[in-house]
Amino acid sequence: MNYIKLFFLRLVVGYRNLVEFFRVAYFYYPNRQFKRVDLYLLRCYILENPYRISKKTLQEKGSKDIYAYGETPLTTMEKISKKCQINTADVVYELGSGRGRTCFWLHFFVGCQVVGVEFVPIFVKIAQKVKHRFDVRGVKFIYQDILDVDYADATVIYFYGTSSDTPFIEKLIEKLKGLPSGTKIITVSYPLTAYTKQPLFKLIKSFPAQFSWGEAEVYLQVVNSSHKN
Ligand SMILES: C[S@@+](CC[C@H](N)C(=O)[O-])C[C@H]1O[C@@H](n2cnc3c(N)ncnc32)[C@H](O)[C@@H]1O
Repeated sequence: MNYIKLFFLRLVVGYRNLVEFFRVAYFYYPNRQFKRVDLYLLRCYILENPYRISKKTLQEKGSKDIYAYGETPLTTMEKISKKCQINTADVVYELGSGRGRTCFWLHFFVGCQVVGVEFVPIFVKIAQKVKHRFDVRGVKFIYQDILDVDYADATVIYFYGTSSDTPFIEKLIEKLKGLPSGTKIITVSYPLTAYTKQPLFKLIKSFPAQFSWGEAEVYLQVVNSSHKN
């Protein structure tokens, strides 16, 4: 029974990914520079897909959930950026940037500065290669653990980490709570406010968004410095 369910789930995900591919080509490939970047990125993962690469790294790290990889569809990233009013003046940190596709999209279509943080070395290596090959300024990739990065210059943080466990989210909250008041933090599937009793963050809004596996709620919260008073 589970195998049948899995089979149909894969079918649905495959169909959604195909539809998304055509939507990306239609909406975003008219931007020729982005098209070159995106297709080159696609080519880099033809022999070994990112899901497999992520699984291998997570196995080596002894992670309990080795199937944690997933990507934000670019059309969903557009919805998120509009709903959360990300603009050209922003410095966006993407926590766990994977292949870096969303970082490139944000840079090309929103025009903001983007920093992708990722602990899978090959993802960072390839993203950096693509950045240099196409001379994309304004996007940076850091090979580091999310919990070790200094986010002092961030105005927006995007975190799609649906399989993160509670201790990790609590550590992340400790790290982010000291950021300047008003810093936007966007999370998928849960708000940070669900993990702390203190008023460290203010929930601004939530809205549904489509991912390849189904619909999820996206949360926009801001750092609330008044809790210190
Ligand atoms: C669900 S994927 C999201 C990829 C990308 N943000 C997107 O939305 O398309 C999560 C990514 O976070 C990375 N990641 C998970 N924990 C991390 C950590 N502690 N430090 C750095 N990267 C991490 C994983 O390797 C993976 O690439």
